[in-house]
Amino acid sequence: MIEVVRAAELGESRRRELARIFVDGFGPDFAFFGKDPERLTDAFAHMLVLDVFHVGLVGGEPAGIVACVEHGQRSVLHDPRELRGHLGVVKGTIAHLTFGRWFEKPLSYARPGLASLEFVATGARFRGRGVASAIIRHLLDLPQYDEYVLDEISDVNDPALRLYAKLGFTEFKRVKVKHTRFTGIGAYVSMRLVTG
Ligand SMILES: CC(C)(COP(=O)(O)OP(=O)(O)OC[C@H]1O[C@@H](n2cnc3c(N)ncnc32)[C@H](O)[C@@H]1OP(=O)(O)O)[C@@H](O)C(=O)NCCC(=O)NCCS
Repeated sequence: MIEVVRAAELGESRRRELARIFVDGFGPDFAFFGKDPERLTDAFAHMLVLDVFHVGLVGGEPAGIVACVEHGQRSVLHDPRELRGHLGVVKGTIAHLTFGRWFEKPLSYARPGLASLEFVATGARFRGRGVASAIIRHLLDLPQYDEYVLDEISDVNDPALRLYAKLGFTEFKRVKVKHTRFTGIGAYVSMRLVTG
């Protein structure tokens, strides 16, 4: 049984557990900043905006997260001092500059009724048990949205692409990348689902 709750309801005391799932999901993307998942968790925990994250609980334990944001909202907001404190001055400063560009830019599709789903991640030991599906299905039922967008999905991320397709999302944009030689990623895919 998977229960879905808002991260803000779980409260600050569970923030680190959610950040650990974030690092499980996206740690490889942050390898430059450090390889120790616990250290990355400490560095990134402050960034998660609990008001917009939704959490899948398995037996009461946080197992997966998905942020759901609309016009004017951000799912991640970083504090350069925190990043420098945990990652050191050089990597902390690079993280500060990079995260501002990657995560804190305004939504390109913003309009009332449209939700952007971000940072979909399931803790490694909970994968393949329907956690991400349950959280996204819960979000798709929210009455205030009639369209959902998932942006910048790497075209080599089969688990994510299959998950979204299974839930009814379809591709509407594909942007080729220049770093294919280094990352193996050919393009970033955007998918949408109209529910209203
Ligand atoms: C993608 C991810 C969130 C899926 O979470 P999950 O909780 O394991 O997903 P679910 O159990 O709800 O799986 C639902 C569907 O996703 C697909 N899927 C999930 N894991 C898969 C895998 N390892 N390989 C292929 N397809 C997979 C399948 O279609 C699956 O349906 P099925 O159970 O009928 O086979 C998880 O693998 C993850 O955290 N990955 C790292 C972070 C990431 O890449 N996030 C997406 C960024 S766009």
